[in-house]
Amino acid sequence: MANVTLEKIVALCKRRGFVYQSAEIYSGLNGVYDFGPLGAELKRNIRKLWIESVTSTPEEVLLIEGSILGSHQVWEASGHLKNFSDPMIDCLNCKKRFRADELNLEKACPSCGVKNWTDVRQFQLMFETNLGALSDQATKAYLRPETAQSIFINFKNVLSTYRVKIPFGIAQIGKAFRNEITPKQFLFRMREFEQMELEFFCKPESSDKYFDTWIEHRMKFYEKIGLNQSKLRLRKHEQDELAHYSKQCTDVEYEFPFGWKELEGIAHRSDYDLRQHSAHSGKDLSVFDEQTKESYMPHVVESSVGVDRLFLTLLFDSYHEDNIEGDTRTVLRFNPAIAPITAAILPLSKKLSENAKPIYENLKKQSFRVQFDESGSIGKRYRRQDEIGTPVCFTFDFDSLEDNNVTARNRDTLKQERVSIDRLEMYLRKL
Ligand code: GAP
Repeated sequence: MANVTLEKIVALCKRRGFVYQSAEIYSGLNGVYDFGPLGAELKRNIRKLWIESVTSTPEEVLLIEGSILGSHQVWEASGHLKNFSDPMIDCLNCKKRFRADELNLEKACPSCGVKNWTDVRQFQLMFETNLGALSDQATKAYLRPETAQSIFINFKNVLSTYRVKIPFGIAQIGKAFRNEITPKQFLFRMREFEQMELEFFCKPESSDKYFDTWIEHRMKFYEKIGLNQSKLRLRKHEQDELAHYSKQCTDVEYEFPFGWKELEGIAHRSDYDLRQHSAHSGKDLSVFDEQTKESYMPHVVESSVGVDRLFLTLLFDSYHEDNIEGDTRTVLRFNPAIAPITAAILPLSKKLSENAKPIYENLKKQSFRVQFDESGSIGKRYRRQDEIGTPVCFTFDFDSLEDNNVTARNRDTLKQERVSIDRLEMYLRKL
């Protein structure tokens, strides 16, 4: 198996329409991407499995969809206006901009080799905009840099309208935006991305227990979706690297070709956010405990992962190059639940297309993600499906006309077996 590189993944994504550079025909928008048909399917599967996983716990976890635009007050209270910035530096010679914490400033510019730096300045990562025609403090709004805040500001709404009791969680999937100084490594650090976040509200005394429980639950999720366990590890944050809101934090890290990096952050946010929003809004966000007859501010355990970052991780993790009879085969070994296409229906000859098409139409009607491909040699068509990670191909040949069977060819074992057309649905469900 050859080593997977970022370049190979980027090329595959482009070649097969998983991901396109945004505004490519206008030479692209840096750090912003569009997703093609296969990418959109892969994302849909990631979201679906994440929702199934976070809502499968014994405690209630409810979904919301908060707005992307957030008022000045929200980000003031959350601490993002003050704290959510990166140190920035420019090279006065070549005008390139860098994150100062990623450079050795004693050395010359890595781009032009000249040492002529500006001072280090703090760069606000939130995108700012104005609502309506006026432009003043009252109309100022920001594109959210995390989905979490809309959960905190809706905590009381959910609590009172859904009549749920602590402990419970609120989960959300949605877009987030950060004006990253140096977006890089393809989908790893983008300016527009999607987060899957869970905020779990509990009593202060049980928060440490739930912090551990959620770490365990999230690791099980990664095992279930088929990530290589030897490439995953947990890393506890040192005190000096904690975000402004967190009491403790553990990252789920994945071993990318460019090193061990954060895939997900699991944070103990204590009562920081609810307390901040209570103080800034003047609304009491504490909860009354019927047993002790006292009010308390719930504590929060957060799990936060990017859809796009998990997308990239799954591509690295499933990418393989096999050598078959002297030929290199590129294959994405996706778990069938993740694979954008579950099965391809391939008539051996174009003459058989009309007979094979109803199989495709029937499986599609049953909501399977299937593709029909009649062009090119059968070998080439298998390779095309391998490259997008389709777990099984059904080939309809001349014998199929007689025995009502197709040949099922397994992506990983390359084993072939005859399967009755009437049993294909069951065959796929078993996958
Ligand atoms: N609410 C907590 C929070 O936003 P974070 O560590 O800044 O914490 C959480 O982000 C997750 O969101 C990361 O682990 C990563 O998966 C994803 N993420 C963050 N910034 C990203 C970016 N610029 N591009 C892609 N994904 C990003």
